[in-house]
Amino acid sequence: MITLRDETPSDRGGIRKVTIEAFANSEFGHNGEADLIDAVRAATDQTLSLVAIHGTQVVGHILFSPVSIECAHRTIHGIGLGPLSVLPAFQRKGIGSQLVEAGLRRLVSRNTPFSVVAGHPGFYTRFGFVPSADYGITHGFAGMPQEVFFIRADSMQSLQDLRGGLAFYLPAFGAQHNTVVEQCVAPEQRSTQVFEIERGSSPSSDGGRAHPEMNEEQHATTERNLGEQPIARLMAAGNLTRHDLVAASTQQITHKMVARACKGRWLTPNTKNKVLDALNKAAGKTYAMRDVFNY
Ligand SMILES: CC(C)(COP(=O)(O)OP(=O)(O)OC[C@H]1O[C@@H](n2cnc3c(N)ncnc32)[C@H](O)[C@@H]1OP(=O)(O)O)[C@@H](O)C(=O)NCCC(=O)NCCS
Repeated sequence: MITLRDETPSDRGGIRKVTIEAFANSEFGHNGEADLIDAVRAATDQTLSLVAIHGTQVVGHILFSPVSIECAHRTIHGIGLGPLSVLPAFQRKGIGSQLVEAGLRRLVSRNTPFSVVAGHPGFYTRFGFVPSADYGITHGFAGMPQEVFFIRADSMQSLQDLRGGLAFYLPAFGAQHNTVVEQCVAPEQRSTQVFEIERGSSPSSDGGRAHPEMNEEQHATTERNLGEQPIARLMAAGNLTRHDLVAASTQQITHKMVARACKGRWLTPNTKNKVLDALNKAAGKTYAMRDVFNY
């Protein structure tokens, strides 16, 4: 039997395990989501964190953390869903859905004005999430397509109030909207950047496809990604392979993470740190983050 309840401190090891195994087993790999959860916990107590328990084992976990949407004249505070994980052996039994539904019920009872999520349309639309692009609401993560960003509010009016807004997650999630630059631009002047699909929270097979309602300027940015990163050149200069970095690392990194780092697929700050650390160990250097990544 599966029971759901709030996270307690003794669940933290179990949550890490579930998160790492679930993402590692997914087609996108684990890209620091377990560390992200720890970083969010350290940053705020304004989270909703639920676990699914089987016997005494944590088999599923969902985190909701503060997200604000900055609209033309005001900022509205809501919540962001994610990461969400279910142990591979327990997937496709409805546990992920139960966690989402239980979390959303709790948020409704708290009068949370909106929830956002970056994820697969086929999964999240069943819980009432709609494409945020339909309302011109954008996330600010470079390298993540806008098409995988969804929003849910309890009324159409709430969604209309958020129209054209910029969503900001906690800084633990990484740089967003090029910090202040885009916030100064009026909503009607902003262009929605759409990038090639590339990470676990955006697992759509057609993710690079432009939204049908996008204008020409928006279409022009489709398929863009962050481009080859300086780390690729540094590795080549040092004659280092992905395997050298993985072998040198004292943290959990994968060949795929290094490959994505080189290609310029967006990585969380935690993953970038791990890759940087691995490079420094493998090369015997002390490169700074700015030497290795240009974002
Ligand atoms: C996504 C996840 C939490 C779903 O958990 P779950 O307990 O298997 O979910 P449920 O059993 O409630 O629902 C399964 C449904 O999710 C869909 N689904 C699961 N993962 C999916 C994915 N990557 N892409 C598309 N659909 C997915 C399945 O198609 C299934 O739909 P169906 O019932 O119509 O066949 C789980 O697959 C997981 O931990 N994945 C790895 C981590 C991840 O990608 N998390 C989400 C992004 S933050």
